[in-house]
Amino acid sequence: MDEIAERLAELERLGLSRRLRMISGPQGPTVLLDGKPVLLLCSNNYLGLADHPRVREAAAEAAMRWGVGAGASRLVSGSMTIHRRLEERLASFKGTESCLLFGSGYLANIGVIGALAGREDVIFSDELNHASIVDGCRLSRAQVVVYRHRDVEHLDWCLRRHGAAGRLIVTDSVFSMDGDIAPLAHIAELANIYGARVVVDEAHATGNVGPDGRGAVAAAGLEGEIDVVIGTLGKALGSYGAYACASDETIQYLINTARSVIFSTAPGPPAVAGALAALELLQERPHRVGRLRSNARALRGALADEGFPVAPGEMHIVPLIVGGERDAMRLCQQAIEQGVFAQAIRPPTVPAGTSRLRLTAMASHTPGELRRAAGILADAARRIGVDPHDMIAPEPEPLHELQEIETALVRAERVERAQWLQQVGQEDRNEVGAGRSGEPYGAAAEGPALFDFERDSSPAKAA
Ligand SMILES: Cc1ncc(COP(=O)(O)O)c(C=O)c1O
Repeated sequence: MDEIAERLAELERLGLSRRLRMISGPQGPTVLLDGKPVLLLCSNNYLGLADHPRVREAAAEAAMRWGVGAGASRLVSGSMTIHRRLEERLASFKGTESCLLFGSGYLANIGVIGALAGREDVIFSDELNHASIVDGCRLSRAQVVVYRHRDVEHLDWCLRRHGAAGRLIVTDSVFSMDGDIAPLAHIAELANIYGARVVVDEAHATGNVGPDGRGAVAAAGLEGEIDVVIGTLGKALGSYGAYACASDETIQYLINTARSVIFSTAPGPPAVAGALAALELLQERPHRVGRLRSNARALRGALADEGFPVAPGEMHIVPLIVGGERDAMRLCQQAIEQGVFAQAIRPPTVPAGTSRLRLTAMASHTPGELRRAAGILADAARRIGVDPHDMIAPEPEPLHELQEIETALVRAERVERAQWLQQVGQEDRNEVGAGRSGEPYGAAAEGPALFDFERDSSPAKAA
């Protein structure tokens, strides 16, 4: 067996082998999977705009007017009016001065992070950040400190330990595999205190959360206060490509330094025009966002009624954590046979032992479809010998807004005290660097572990 065959066999043996499944038709509530109709519960076409007639027409018209490809990087063969129009619209939607398009969310993350951090700098990255952020951190050659998921105490401690001139905090706003939200207000506050820049990836928030779908940054009242807000055009905006929103100066800097803009062909006119039409639809009819929320509530309620450990709420990403890789695959296959397509998600996308079905509600589902899906998933779980009641409960939902504000105040006091203690030459070991349990972190003596190149998201490897 040659090396590639051996590696494939190893993936198969570990239950980690992947394959492409054939579907027919657009990303609607129902698709044909290998010729069989199934309810689609794993698409990021959250608002149902990928196949909306106006979006299709805009893309087709743009293809006729400007052609399909952009021809080169915009720095080489020029920027098209359609690029500029979408950038202006996105900047105004996100409440920033300026915006820059990228070929995809993956390219945006590696381009922006690489532009803002280099060898001399330190990046602070949530342990459950998306792989494109992880890869952006690796490519930047900065020192990377991974902080515990959504843990502002730990982030504070890490920031204190790493006093480099250039600090960059980077986080998803809505986490892609868990559907929970980063504590953005706390992160912004820490960034202020420590003089760090902040990059927030709104891939799963734009169009879905916040006022009129403007995202989690807007929901936290931080519009215009985050250094760079990244988002994709490939999820709620139903197209392909991505953007970074920031100040005029930062966007000029990215045009000059983000390698994935400089050395990559610009997004093609049909994709850009499609996203522009989707954004217009979202702004004209924000009720789609309300429908997504009520569908998310309906899906969560129906799953809880079936015994799954799912908290009530309006977040459209709902993880059903099975645990083992093979069990997750078996549940996925059994659900498909019974008429629901919810892809199993396994390492390295999620930490080992937390393989899951990652369910996504869409605005285009009916509540009846979502109830039917929940019933099928519960039956499928029992058929493979898993009781929904015994499944692993996800992390608790974020704190209520009011509690968040109170916590922020308590934290601010604590940070002030810690700084004062530092100034007078003492270290407050009881408070600073203490974990949720009040115990110091294991890594305290030797400092946080640097980023683990082999495993992106294993909590055990976090600092
Ligand atoms: C949080 C996050 N960021 C970035 C991306 C990449 O975006 P794109 O699909 O446009 O490359 C994804 C895609 O899943 C994501 O979940």
